Amino acid sequence: MTQYAEKIVREEVARILKNAGLNPVELKAGLGTPPSPELGDYSFNCVLLLRDRRSPEAAAAKAKDLAKRLKPKKYVTKIEVSGPYINFFIDKAKFSALVLREIWTQADSYGNWDLGAGKTVVVDFSSPNIAKPFGVGHLRSTVIGNSICKLYESLGYTCIGINHLGDWGTQFGKLIVAYRKWGKEKQLKAKPVQQLYDLYVKFHAEAQKDKSLEEEARDWFRRLEDGEQEATRLWRWFRDISLKEFRRIYDILNIHFDSYAGESFYNSMLPETITKLKTAGLAQESQGALIVDLERFGMSPCLLRKTDGSTLYATRDIAAVIYRFNTYGFDKMIYVVGADQKLYFRQIFKVLELVGYPWANDLVHVPFGLVRFGTGRMSTRKGNVIFLEEVFQKAVDLTEKIIEEKNPDLEDKHEIATQVGIGAIVFNDLSTKRMKDVDFSWDRMLNFNGQTGPYVQYTYARFSSVLRKYGRQVDDNVNLSLLNSDMETEIVRLLSRFPEAVKHAADEYEPSVVTIYLLDLCEASNRFYNHFRVLSEDLETSKARALLVWCIRTVLGKGLRLLGMETPKRM
Ligand code: ARG
Repeated sequence: MTQYAEKIVREEVARILKNAGLNPVELKAGLGTPPSPELGDYSFNCVLLLRDRRSPEAAAAKAKDLAKRLKPKKYVTKIEVSGPYINFFIDKAKFSALVLREIWTQADSYGNWDLGAGKTVVVDFSSPNIAKPFGVGHLRSTVIGNSICKLYESLGYTCIGINHLGDWGTQFGKLIVAYRKWGKEKQLKAKPVQQLYDLYVKFHAEAQKDKSLEEEARDWFRRLEDGEQEATRLWRWFRDISLKEFRRIYDILNIHFDSYAGESFYNSMLPETITKLKTAGLAQESQGALIVDLERFGMSPCLLRKTDGSTLYATRDIAAVIYRFNTYGFDKMIYVVGADQKLYFRQIFKVLELVGYPWANDLVHVPFGLVRFGTGRMSTRKGNVIFLEEVFQKAVDLTEKIIEEKNPDLEDKHEIATQVGIGAIVFNDLSTKRMKDVDFSWDRMLNFNGQTGPYVQYTYARFSSVLRKYGRQVDDNVNLSLLNSDMETEIVRLLSRFPEAVKHAADEYEPSVVTIYLLDLCEASNRFYNHFRVLSEDLETSKARALLVWCIRTVLGKGLRLLGMETPKRM
C-alpha cells in the first residue's frame, strides 16, 4: 500500500485517539483540519461523541476529559484543547524532512498510488461526430477525458483511451444527399470539415422548405446500412477526411487514443446484440420499432431499432461495451460525455444490468456542462459554431504578443507561445468544476497573474530559472531547520497534500481538484519567492531553499502533466 507523509502523520493522530478508546466510526466523523495553522495541524471535534449535541459546555468538558488520556508520539508533539476541539500539533522539522525526502526520492512518481495495480480502466472520451466540426463541447470531453486517463494511470491503473467516433447514423444519409446535390469534390478536398459542415447546414435549411429531402436522406442511410457501394464509398471518404482533421487537433493537444473504434466498428455485432436482448426477454416490438421498456424504472424506453429498420446509437453503445469488456476486461468503464446525455446513459446502464452483466455496476457516466462564449449555447445545425483550430490559432497569437512584450529575447518564442496558449485553453476548461458551464473569455484565461494556466506555467518556469541560476546539483543533504518560517511550513503542508489531491481528483472524476491545488501551491510559493531570497551568500540556507524549490517545481510539473499541459522551462 502506498504510504505518504500526510497519511503517516494522520494515522498517528488516529492511533493516539484510538488508544484512548475511540472507535473507527467516531474517528472518521470527528477528525479534521483546523481552520488556521496556529490552531494545529489536525483537530478532533468532541461534539460528535455526545448523544445530546446541543450543549457547548458538555462538549468542552468531554474534550478536556478525553485530552487527559491522549499521549504525544513521534510526529504529534503537542495536544491542546480549544472549546469542543482537541488540536494536534505536528513536529514541523520532522514532518518537513519526511515530506521533502519523499518528493526528493520519488521525483516524478510523487503522487502516484498502487491502488489500481493490475486493474484496467477504459475511458471513452472526445468522440466527435464525423462530418460535423469538432466543437468546443467535444473539446471539453477531450481535455477532461485525457486528464482522467492520466489521473487513473497515476493511481496505478492501466488506462485504455477510446475515441468512440460518431461515424455512423442518419446524418450520413443527409450528407450523401447534400453532397450529391450541392457538393463539389474540389472544395471538399481543400477544406473537408468546413465543406461537410456547410453541406450539413444547407441540408437542414433546404429540408425546411422541401420535406422530401428527409425521406431521401433516410433512404440513403438505409442503402449505407445495406452496404451498397456508392453509399459506402462516400461514407468512407467523408470519414477519412474528417478523421485527418481531428487528428490534427489531437496532435496540437498532444493527446493519443488506444483505439479509434467508432460507432461503425460495431455494425457487424448488432444482430447478435439484438438477439441477446430479445433472448433476455428485454427487447420488444412497439409500433414497428424495437425497444426496451424502462417504465418500471421511471425512464422512457431505450430505442434499439427504428420503424424503418435502421439501428441506433443505443444499440451500438450496448454492442460496444460488451465488446470492450470481452477485449479489455475492464474494472471500470468511464464515459466522458455532456450532461445532456445523462438519461441516455442511465437507460443503457439499466439495460445492461437487466441483461445480467455483473460489470454493469462498473460503468460510469462522467457528465459536464456547456461552454459559453457570452452568446449562449452553440448548435451544430444552425451554423453558429466556432471552429476549434481557429480558437487554437488565436490563443497562440495572443500569447505570442504577450510574450513579445514581457520577454522579447526569449528563444523558441513560437513554440513556447503554443505550449502556453493551448495550455491556457486546457486549464480554463479544467479549472471550471466539471458540471458548471465554462466561460470562454480570452482576457481572463490568458492573464499571466490570474487563476490561469499561464500563471501556473509561469511559476513553473520561474522556479526552473531559479534552479538554473543556483547552478549546483540540488541534493537532500541539507539543514531542514533552516526552512522553518511560516511560509515555508505552509508550502511543505501543501506539498504533502498533493498525493491526496490526485486521488481525490480521480475518485471524483474532477480535474479541477488538481487545478485548485496547483493555484494554491503557486500562490504560497510565489509569496515565499517574493519574500525571501532563495539564493544568497549563505550557502547552507541557499541549499535548503534550493531543495524546497526543486520539490515545488517537481510537483507543479507533475500536476501540469496530469492536466495534459506542457511544462515550458522558460517563458
Ligand atoms: N458522438 C457522441 C456525441 O457527439 C458522443 C459519443 C460518446 N460516447 C458514447 N459511447 N456514446 O454526442
